[in-house]
Amino acid sequence: MYPISITGDGVGLREFAADDVDAVLAVYGDPVVVEHLSFEPRNREQVAATLAGVIEAAKEGLRREYSLAVVAADEVIGFARLAVDAQHPGQSSGQIGFALRADRWGHGLGSEAVRLLLRLGFEVLGLHRLWGARSPDNATSARVMSKLGMEEEGRIRGHLKVRGSWRDSVVHSILEDDWRALNDIQ
Ligand SMILES: CC(C)(COP(=O)(O)OP(=O)(O)OC[C@H]1O[C@@H](n2cnc3c(N)ncnc32)[C@H](O)[C@@H]1OP(=O)(O)O)[C@@H](O)C(=O)NCCC(=O)NCCS
Repeated sequence: MYPISITGDGVGLREFAADDVDAVLAVYGDPVVVEHLSFEPRNREQVAATLAGVIEAAKEGLRREYSLAVVAADEVIGFARLAVDAQHPGQSSGQIGFALRADRWGHGLGSEAVRLLLRLGFEVLGLHRLWGARSPDNATSARVMSKLGMEEEGRIRGHLKVRGSWRDSVVHSILEDDWRALNDIQ
């Protein structure tokens, strides 16, 4: 599905453009933002390559990657991602990820961006299950996902090698029925 544009309360999600590189660098180039993520801060060249890949993947016929700009008052302030999992018979799920520029934290914008990702997954793409994996130390992410109805469902041990050490991940998930009940959707 392309292009995606979803508007929420104070933030929206839209497709990335090539000239969003500096805005994304302000997110993924910041060591504070990536502290709990699986990669080192990225430089401008790496961010440009990431965006080029994202823009290319967005136009694939059977789209699985929805990497979207989080926009507030026409300014790109974050990166939101929904990756549809490989579809085996009887499966219909996707993983979400999200990050905002650090100077915009603490005003409800991150929660709203995640709510829009859940809307995208359930109401636009018709998926059955959405999940996110966070660092065990990432208390803000835990709070954001929990308050949107993403229950903590377990721990993947030794999930990722980050900065030379194996790290567990805590998985949160929400099912389509939970989403409908929480949002009073028939
Ligand atoms: C996660 C992130 C997007 C949240 O964005 P944000 O705009 O600050 O989020 P919000 O303001 O909507 O909500 C943050 C919630 O976490 C709570 N919180 C903040 N710091 C906290 C902490 N150390 N411990 C527990 N809760 C915390 C806030 O009180 C708020 O909850 P509330 O609405 O009940 O008061 C942002 O912190 C970020 O970009 N972090 C770096 C990238 C990242 O970790 N992404 C998630 C990967 S799984």
